[in-house]
Parts: sequence; structure tokens; C-alpha cells
Amino acid sequence: MNSFYVTTPIYYVNALPHLGHAYTTILADCANRFHRLLNEKTYFLTGTDEHGDKIVQAAEKNGEDPKSYVDKISARFQGLWPELGVENNAFIRTTFPSHKRCVQRILQDVFDKGDIYFGEYGGYYCYGCECFYTEKELENGLCPDHLEKPTYIKEENYFFRMSKYQDWLKEHILSHPDFIQPRQYRAEVLAMLREPLDDLCISRPKTRLTWGIELPFDQRFVTYVWFDALINYVSALGWPDHELFRTFWPNAHHLVAKDILKPHAVFWPTMLKAAGIELYKGLRVHGYWKVDETKMSKSLGNVVDPLEMRKKYGLDGFRYFLMREMQLGHDGSFSEQALVSRFNADLANDLGNLFNRSLSMARKYFQGKVPQSGAWTAEDREIVDRGLRTMHDYVQCFQDFRMARGLETFWEFIRGLNKYIDLSAPWKLRKEGDMDRLATVMALVLAGLRRTALAVWPIMPDAGQKMCAQLGLDFRPEEIDLIEEAGNWRQLQPGTALAERSNLFPRQEFILEQEQITESKSREQEPEPAEAGYEDFQKLQLLTGKVLAAEKVKGTDKLLKLEVDLGEERKRTIVAGLAKDYAPQEIQGRQVTVVANLKPRKLRGILSQGMVLTVHTPSGLTILSPEQDVPPGSRIS
Ligand code: MSP
Repeated sequence: MNSFYVTTPIYYVNALPHLGHAYTTILADCANRFHRLLNEKTYFLTGTDEHGDKIVQAAEKNGEDPKSYVDKISARFQGLWPELGVENNAFIRTTFPSHKRCVQRILQDVFDKGDIYFGEYGGYYCYGCECFYTEKELENGLCPDHLEKPTYIKEENYFFRMSKYQDWLKEHILSHPDFIQPRQYRAEVLAMLREPLDDLCISRPKTRLTWGIELPFDQRFVTYVWFDALINYVSALGWPDHELFRTFWPNAHHLVAKDILKPHAVFWPTMLKAAGIELYKGLRVHGYWKVDETKMSKSLGNVVDPLEMRKKYGLDGFRYFLMREMQLGHDGSFSEQALVSRFNADLANDLGNLFNRSLSMARKYFQGKVPQSGAWTAEDREIVDRGLRTMHDYVQCFQDFRMARGLETFWEFIRGLNKYIDLSAPWKLRKEGDMDRLATVMALVLAGLRRTALAVWPIMPDAGQKMCAQLGLDFRPEEIDLIEEAGNWRQLQPGTALAERSNLFPRQEFILEQEQITESKSREQEPEPAEAGYEDFQKLQLLTGKVLAAEKVKGTDKLLKLEVDLGEERKRTIVAGLAKDYAPQEIQGRQVTVVANLKPRKLRGILSQGMVLTVHTPSGLTILSPEQDVPPGSRIS
């Protein structure tokens, strides 16, 4: 049985958990659950980082001693995870005595080997980062991260001979393309390694800081917080000789955001090498969640509370949005508007409807039981093949932690199943009395629902469980093997009783309902528009797009439903009032300009997620498009 070990950063306890922490931890949970469905032995670790200046300062600000302060905040992190559906196997705290012993043992080993030496050092110390900068690394004399003036400190300290391992590390990264991914971060680390690497100052004199792990070979110093924190990944497994360490460490995957790339990609591997410990297998780096295009920060008051999101939109919807929206490696933009429109389009519409209509047909046509399938037609074979292929692609994406891409792929299959139902028209088969064919179609759709339930479980554990229960399945993750599912189409057992109705994802409410497009008034009648500030203009996200598909909206001669590619794997449905001026085939493949962050609204029952810009001419509307071919998603300003 293969093993899989996934970790999150251990979070500082100087602030309460927010969306950013929730994202990495949910990503790790999804990966872990997914690997359980590959029939692997899995271990998932998260925890808190509790030593160092930052923490002491936060405790002081709160009028508490460090220990009771860290106990309190760490408990908030620990208590949050079950609320977000996160099932971690262990929670490590750097104040655990077992962790402290492990750090001291590694320090001693590296010291004995001669890779830690004593020396004097002068540098620009940033208290926010808890590290030294060289003059060259400062930006206009300020810390590049905190934009604050660092303090010049000259003191004696211990240093880790990191420079000694520079060439070795470079070679390791070059010969192991999967070690750091996505590739832009791998390239960033290789670029760092083109410059000479300094040795790492790994101690802080107790005259300045006492809240830390004492150096085993010199009690006048405590350990630098990063040298202490990184070791959590092995101390939690009982390094060096615990069974957990032997089983899981060879398959360790660290998840981090781009802010802590260097400690994980440079400090940690060289520390492991010096300590004679095998390297971790992979580092996966994600971008930052921004809120309305700005960084989340307490001072801006835009910090997103994950529990509040859960309360408002439900756990499954919140988790789905986070996983579907952020492409690994890129920054993501969080807004409740975007969450609701994703929820309604993907969950209420595509997935929810698929379950609702399928269960209702099974109830009407087969007394709510799984029918016995007959022989497949070419159309059946096609959707089955698609289901197998989709599972294969989904597994590959999830193995690479590219959940957004995996879900996008899987949703194409879900939409394919909906289309298969439309084309097979079970209601017609029933009318014509073709019960054999009807049974085959139904059995196939139900089998499609089964694999859908399995695929969504890592992301939406509650919904996945419910779907299985509705299909009369006794769901046990350890009995599933998604790789096997990619090669084998399993039907449900004929005769199995199904739930009467599904109702998994009731539509979220605050979508603007607007069934009518308001007739645009003629230009002459329009009042002079009010002045718009530059900041008003900046609120609009204007992008180029490419029309992938176009069709007339039934029951109106004005509207076209467009599927528009907005780059970066974003696809949008947009309902545009273009039908009088353009035939669907005329517009397909065309470049358009799109207002991408317009509040979604419903037109003739279709959720329109944006607006295509047009020019009003005396002879009608013309699409506004760039002069040359440009990649979809290019910014317009
Ligand atoms: N304690 C160190 C990590 C030590 S690991 C050996 C630390 N802690 S932290 O509390 O600052 O957490 C940083 C991590 O939180 C990021 O790497 C990321 O996982 C998560 N995020 C915090 N803000 C984030 C966003 N705005 N967006 C996405 N994730 C972010 O660094």
C-alpha cells in the first residue's frame, strides 16, 4: 500500500485564523481525502508555530504571558479545523516537549558534524520577519516585506553552513523536476541559487529573546524560529525511529503559499541534508487570496472569516469555491458575489439539477429502484468512455494538487451527463413504451452519478456522503480506488432503492433576478451621465474573451447565450442582447470584450456572468473587439 503525507505550514499564533489559513488547510484536506480514495495510507499534519519575537509582542499587547497566550490562540486554530470539515491526523505545536527534544537533537547532530559555527554578524534586522537582511536586500532602506526601517544589529551568533549545500541543492532541484512545483516557483528558487547563498544565522541571544528553544550546546542562546518551526514536519512523525516516520516521510508533500517559499525550498532541504535526513518529496506552492484585488489585512478591515462564510453559504459551497476558483500557483480573488455565482452555476444548476432530475425520473419510471441495463448504443459507449477519461484526467490533476483544473474537467462530464439525458429524452422513451432503452439510459446515468459522488467527496465531504446515501451506497473511502474507476465503469446494483428526491444545493438567494432586459433608450433621450471618478472606472474588470459557443435563448428573439473563454481556465456563460444582429454561428470563435466582474443576473432562467461590450450604430449593434488576435483574459484599461 502506498503512503501519502501532507502538511500545511504551522501557523503563527499572533493572529486569529482567516481565509488564507483556511485555504491551505482545506487544500491539504482535499488532497488527503483524495489520496484515501486512491486506497493509500495517508497522514495529514497541521499545527501552530509558537516561538519568537512576534509571538512575545502579541502576548504583551494582550497583557498575557506567552504561554497562556499561545495556548489560547492555538486552541482557536485547532478548534476551527473540524468546523471546516478538515480531518487532520495530528496537530503539532512547537511548544510540545517532544518537538523541543527533536529540535535540540538535530541541532546537536548538525553542530557535531561541524555545520554550525560561532561568529559575529552585523545586519539589518526586521522584527516583523524575524530575520536579518543585507543592505542589498533592502528596498530604499526598508524591509521589502513590511516596508519598515530595520534595526542594524551587530552581535555574536551561531550560523548554519547553508552555503556549503548550495551546489548540491541546485543539482537536486535540476534533477528532480517535481521537487518544487508549479514551475514558476521552481524557477524562482533556481534564480535565488544563482546568487551566492549566505550562511543562516540560527540563534538569538537570550539577552534579546528568551521565548524559544535553547541551543543544546550554548545556553546563552535560543533557536531562530524558522530552524525550530521547519523541524515540526519530522518531529510530529517521531523522527528518527518511530513507525510513522518510516512509513510517511518518504512521501512527504509540503503545501505553502508563496510568502514562505525560501525557508521551505532553501533552508529546509539544506537543514535536512546536513542532519542526514532524506529530503521531502515535494513542495507545492500556491498564490495569495486577495479580496477585491487587494491584500487581506486587519488594517484594511477586509479579512475574511472562514466560519462566517461557512455559516452563510454552507461548508460544501465554501470549500468548492475555494478549490474551484484558485489555480495552483496564481493569486485568487475572493468575493461573495463570485462565490454565489459559482455556487448557483456549478452546484445548484449543473450538479444539483442532475441529481434532482435523475432521482425524480427513477422514481417515476422505475419505482425508485435501479433498473437493469440492456446493451449499450454508440451514444452510451461515448458517454461511458468520457466518464472513464474524465476520471483519469481528474486523478492526474488532483495528484498534482491542481484541484481547480480537475474540477473543471469533471464538471464537463457532469454537463455531458445532463446533455446525454436531454438527447436520450427518457420522457419520450417512456411515452413510446421503449422500457428497455429507458432502463439502459437510467442505469447509465445513475452509474455516472455514482462516480460523480466519489469525485466530489474530497472537496465536499457532506454532499459526497449524501449523494452516496441517495444512491443507496454504503460509502467507505477505504474500499474505493479511483485509479481503478478510471478504467472500469461500475454500474449500481440493479434493484437498489434510491432516495425519492435529492435537493442537495438549493440556489443561493441574493442573485439579482432580472427576467427582462431593459430596452436601451435612444442616445438622444439619455441624460448626460454623471461624472465618474477614475476609481469608479477601476472597479470594472474589463477583459478580452473568445466566444466558444453561441446559441439562441429559447422564447426570445433578442438574446444569445454565449460560452466565453476568459483565459486562465475561466469560462463564463453570458447572455447578450445580440440575437437580432448576429447569428450564433457568426459570433462563435470571435474575440469580444467583456465586463467580467458585473453582478451576475438571471435572464430567461440563465445566469449571466458578465457583459459583452457592443457599439451602438444606426444599423444595429457591432461587437467591440481588439484589433489583433490577443490571448483571452487580456486586461483592458
Ligand atoms: N509560521 C510560519 C510558517 C512555518 S512552517 C514551518 C508562517 N505562518 S503564517 O501564519 O504566517 O502562515 C502563512 C501561511 O498561511 C501561508 O504560507 C499560507 O499557507 C497561508 N496564508 C496566509 N495568508 C494567505 C492568503 N492571503 N492567501 C493564501 N494563503 C495565505 O508563515
